[in-house]
Amino acid sequence: MKVLMFSPGFPAEMPRFTRGLAQAGAQVLGLGDQPEAMLPQEAKDHLSAYLRVPNLWDEDAVIRAVSDWIRPMGELDRVECLWEPGMMLAARLRQALGVPGMTPDQTVLFRDKEAMKQALDAAGIRTPRHASARTAGEMRFAAERIGYPLIIKPIAGAGSADTYRVEDATELERVLRLVRHVPEVSVEEFIDAHEFTFDTICSGGEILFENIAWYRPNVLVARSLEWVSPQTVNLRDLSTPQLEAGRQLGRKALKALGFETGFTHMEWFLKEDGEAVFGEIGARPPGARSVDIMNYTCDTDVYVGWAEAACFGRFSQPTHRLYNAAVIFKRAQGEGRIQRVEGLEHLLAHFGEHVVCVDLLPQGHPRRNWKQTLLSDGYLIVRHPDLQATTEMADRVGSELQMYAG
Ligand SMILES: Nc1ncnc2c1ncn2[C@@H]1O[C@H](COP(=O)(O)OP(=O)(O)O)[C@@H](O)[C@H]1O
Ligand SMILES: [Mg+2]
Repeated sequence: MKVLMFSPGFPAEMPRFTRGLAQAGAQVLGLGDQPEAMLPQEAKDHLSAYLRVPNLWDEDAVIRAVSDWIRPMGELDRVECLWEPGMMLAARLRQALGVPGMTPDQTVLFRDKEAMKQALDAAGIRTPRHASARTAGEMRFAAERIGYPLIIKPIAGAGSADTYRVEDATELERVLRLVRHVPEVSVEEFIDAHEFTFDTICSGGEILFENIAWYRPNVLVARSLEWVSPQTVNLRDLSTPQLEAGRQLGRKALKALGFETGFTHMEWFLKEDGEAVFGEIGARPPGARSVDIMNYTCDTDVYVGWAEAACFGRFSQPTHRLYNAAVIFKRAQGEGRIQRVEGLEHLLAHFGEHVVCVDLLPQGHPRRNWKQTLLSDGYLIVRHPDLQATTEMADRVGSELQMYAG
């Protein structure tokens, strides 16, 4: 089983998926723009060869370079990409090399938020009322039709970039100026609800592993207010009745989009009245340590499980859901370098046995840009079989652990 792994060294989770492939028994060939010597050790340890290209986004040149490189090694079995910006290139590589897996046509439905929602509408799935718009005139027209409050976001966005909640026509005029550089936006009904994920690993259209996480607070709020310590709470019990509508929605969405094999990450809203509304879906895993909290929930190795599913159509890792697992991201107060951390010892003295990971930037390290990385200045992971106990600990990490920079 020969697998081409797209960008095995970046972003941070990719070396873990590279390891997963090797441990599942594949021969892993890496393709990336990082110099080989700069790859993280975990990636190096599990690659059998690596092709560095000068520009990963020059599609024709990359396809040519990969074809020439692979030819003497024989046929490739898979091309795997778990990083959103590379999805389409990976699909074109499959096409050019005659490798099975997602085609460009299938990939568009997971990249273009308007095409995605049209396919889901046609299948009778509840999406927010929506329209795509390229000009200020089209945005005003869409806003009239959809009504306020609404959301404006890029059609091919990620990480809540250029995403705005708009309350009324006056605010719309302000936001129109802010999104002038975005070629095409989606204008959407604002859904006032809790926000969850529905994540799967599939093979041949069958779900082999399934996962739900709860964002606290909603992503857009967490991404807009610096003082918030965003949480992703991975849920132990997926059989609770409130989550059923979201699971059904997720299953229908995968069918409607014709998804076959690999990781999926859907976001959905659960309204007060119990209705589930589609948010978005990617044909890739969630980032920001979300796969690690899946591992903490099940005491398993989802990286290997994904690789087994992608390469061999099975998921043999244990999937018993034992814990709720919450990751809490911290943002330091002040600018510059981390000066000190307060409250950690106190919290560890209280519930240290439930803290499974502490990864805060060390003293003297420059702060990360909280707008650009969800990891912020570090994070803690807590886990507990009881959901309320988990969220209580997570909230205490949010309010009682403070980092200071200066
Ligand atoms: N229709 C909507 N109603 C309410 N909130 C929304 C809506 N669309 C997006 N959001 C908020 O904005 C965030 C980012 O939007 P999303 O569609 O997930 O794009 P991205 O690709 O940037 O993650 C969501 O996680 C959610 O918090
Ligand atoms: Mg999103």
